[in-house]
Amino acid sequence: MALFGKSKKSGASSDISKEIIMPAHVGIIMDGNGRWAKKRGLPRKAGHREGAKTFRTITRYCSDIGIKYLTVYAFSTENWKRPEDEVGALMGLFKSYLEEALSDFKDDDIVVRFIGDKSGFSPELQTLMNENEESSASRKGMVLNIAMNYGSRDEIVRAVKNIAFDVKSGKLDESQIDSSLVSNYMYTAGQPDPDLIIRPSGEYRISNFMLWQSAYTEFVIMNKLWPDFTTNDMDEALRIFAQRNRRYGGV
Ligand code: IPE
Ligand code: IPE
Ligand code: MG
Repeated sequence: MALFGKSKKSGASSDISKEIIMPAHVGIIMDGNGRWAKKRGLPRKAGHREGAKTFRTITRYCSDIGIKYLTVYAFSTENWKRPEDEVGALMGLFKSYLEEALSDFKDDDIVVRFIGDKSGFSPELQTLMNENEESSASRKGMVLNIAMNYGSRDEIVRAVKNIAFDVKSGKLDESQIDSSLVSNYMYTAGQPDPDLIIRPSGEYRISNFMLWQSAYTEFVIMNKLWPDFTTNDMDEALRIFAQRNRRYGGV
């Protein structure tokens, strides 16, 4: 059940895009896997396994209903502090997904991109990430940004360093620095800012996700753990978004 908005009618409506004004870019903080497992007396990694299934379902659904950009937060720069076996289980799930995406989803229309610092991952995972990006680059469908070893402060620091470097080397003049230039030094260069960010699991925080890009993003907090999140919940979040009055500082 959502904390905000009306409760949803039963049954997924595949034509939601005809019913409401759709966001072009949706971000999802895929949170609550650990609590889902704990509630069932299972190890946290069982929650991540379930969460990975939800990720596949929701990604497909977003693509089907015509979302143009979907950014999912899969692993933060802070998540390395978790116990070794949990991090290991997550790396195993990433590997399975990346292999599956290469072999089974090759006729798919989704463009896969990774945002975050790839160099933190094993060479094998980095290769799989690069292969997924290269093999999907010419597709025409939804752009899926998978945020892995992503932290927004890290992203901003990286952008500042690159801008400083380009000024120093004469590629850029200080007078050219404005907010659209800064946007183009982010991992999401060339993409619209997220219109909507959904956080399941009921937490009211951003946890280092898209700080620069979310200046005027609408937030929807859902009181559902990510493994329990359904296409109906996605519809509900989209309906809540469509009822918001976005003013961007105007009247
Ligand atoms: C999100 O679920 C997955 C990752 C952060 C990798 P959590 O593992 O954070 O689940 P909770 O918040 O502990 O329930
Ligand atoms: C944010 O969730 C990161 C991902 C969902 C990948 P966390 O579970 O790491 O965030 P906190 O610790 O609750 O802020
Ligand atoms: Mg969490």
